[in-house]
Amino acid sequence: MCRLVHVLIRVEFSVFSLFTVEAPQSLYTVEYGNNVTLECTFPVNGKLKFKDLGVSWEKKDELKQVYVLFKGEEDFKAQHSDFKGRIKLLKENLNLGQSLLQITDVKLRDAGDYRCLIEYGGADYKTIHLKVKAPYRIITPGAVSTGHNEWKLTCQSEGYPEAEVIWQNRDYEDLSDKANTRYESGSDNLVLCKSNWP
Ligand SMILES: *[C@@H]1O[C@H](CO)[C@@H](O)[C@H](O)[C@H]1NC(C)=O
Repeated sequence: MCRLVHVLIRVEFSVFSLFTVEAPQSLYTVEYGNNVTLECTFPVNGKLKFKDLGVSWEKKDELKQVYVLFKGEEDFKAQHSDFKGRIKLLKENLNLGQSLLQITDVKLRDAGDYRCLIEYGGADYKTIHLKVKAPYRIITPGAVSTGHNEWKLTCQSEGYPEAEVIWQNRDYEDLSDKANTRYESGSDNLVLCKSNWP
């Protein structure tokens, strides 16, 4: 933590220095469960001196530490538990002046602003926004007999955020007013949407 404060203070005083961190892409959109690699770049003249390098990624909105590399050494002690085992910095790319943070198996709670800080002679940071989508891809249909040759049709699916359910007949007429749709909490903070008709 002290190291981060130290880096932040250095950032305050480096406004006029020539050391600049860039974020080639400031918004990433990723699907729940997929992997994403966030990128920041910084100037490296000649061979990278690992001893002089400090790299950090933090989740800005909740001040969660995601990744720290200080004097060339990774330090996972203060990493927030949300990210345990799902973070990798592609170290070979540091030589090219790229800080590439790979997040695997993206969760809904990973959405938000990430701050990419680099200290290398000077210090600077950029903020990158991550959006997480969870489309309702798999829809499970069903039918329940209600006696007398009558059936209730059902369907359910998981995703995020809450979805609207529309029932149509084969002529695409909207029959949704007879439907009953409920939302429950599904696996891993997803919304489990259950609907039946009539
Ligand atoms: C995400 O990355 C991990 C580790 O590199 C890999 O095993 C997995 O297949 C990747 N998942 C997807 C959805 O690409």
